[in-house]
Amino acid sequence: MKFDLLQTDAQSRARAGKITLDHGVIETPIFMPVGTVATVKGVHQRELKEEINPDIILGNTYHLYLRPKMEILKAAGGLHKFMNWDRNILTDSGGFQVYSLSSNRKIKEEGVKFKSHIDGSYHFFSPESVMEIQRTIGADIIMAFDECTPYPCDYRYAKRSMHRTHRWLDRCVDHLAKVPEMYGYSQTLFPIVQGSTFKDLREQSAEYIANVGAEGNAIGGLSVGEPAEEMYAMTELVCGILPTEKPRYLMGVGTPINILENIALGVDMFDCVMPTRNARNGMLFTAHGSINIKNKKWEADFSPIDENGYTWVDTAYSKAYLRHLFAANESLGKQIASIHNLGFYLWLVREARRQILAGTFTEWKNKMVRQMDQRL
Ligand code: GUN
Repeated sequence: MKFDLLQTDAQSRARAGKITLDHGVIETPIFMPVGTVATVKGVHQRELKEEINPDIILGNTYHLYLRPKMEILKAAGGLHKFMNWDRNILTDSGGFQVYSLSSNRKIKEEGVKFKSHIDGSYHFFSPESVMEIQRTIGADIIMAFDECTPYPCDYRYAKRSMHRTHRWLDRCVDHLAKVPEMYGYSQTLFPIVQGSTFKDLREQSAEYIANVGAEGNAIGGLSVGEPAEEMYAMTELVCGILPTEKPRYLMGVGTPINILENIALGVDMFDCVMPTRNARNGMLFTAHGSINIKNKKWEADFSPIDENGYTWVDTAYSKAYLRHLFAANESLGKQIASIHNLGFYLWLVREARRQILAGTFTEWKNKMVRQMDQRL
């Protein structure tokens, strides 16, 4: 992996860069659409590629391990081939899903025993097994096995968990070196900073992670219910410690406003289920705020879904038509809303990049944050 830092904003820490991996170049800042179970929900790969056009998408180790299972992904020749996606993929390690989705989990030094949310069967993830699983899935960027602590979290637990995450990281690094890549292209491991919302722990964790010398670094344990200001304070602190010359990935964030504020603090990569999940509930993100398309207010509004036209659906269909699809519980409504929201998120990060390169980011960001903080 190669990272070229092209420009840093003069009035903030925002950066524009370029990550080069074996499945193509990623222009940063980037938003990575979430494709948990080998599908970005509601969007065909053709539309994803041609309309939304992200350089990278995300998959989840936890889900793919449980279904379709590793034998199938191995026989398919990896996730890229299985799902017909020839650009980059990043897989999360399960270090979040194991805690948020499975029940009866037991965390020990060795790893985590958990119960499948699908059929109730028991499984065990360790740093070593998660590295092997991610070799088999074959994503371009793979994540270290960590524990994402809940919010609020007591200090003693956050500290104990953070140290365990660091020990697990060392085991990930050691084991990965022993398991060869399977499909003829390289995979890059990103370690994850934890430490909940405690300044001293975040500092320690960022220093530990920086010292590992990975090619990119992630910030985890945020956007788990803490106030946005606390999240920004942690990102600012951690970005001040993580190396400048490596990409920084803030996991699971967030709203369009969260994304712009964190870009301003020095984050380069984001992922979140919000654009697709909220789309399925009828919530549309726009440059002027969010819309609940199920609202009666749109019943006879024949204006385009979004006149800015980020993707073809925005101008092909009216708000009234989309509202009707939601009222009738038609699956096409969810698909249209998902394409719109992802198109908007990708436009937002591309525009942020353009503004950084033009030297106008901060002014634009402040205007956008004001403008998007509304419900239409
Ligand atoms: N996704 C969102 N937050 C986290 C985190 O802290 N760890 C991992 N592995 N994934 C995440």
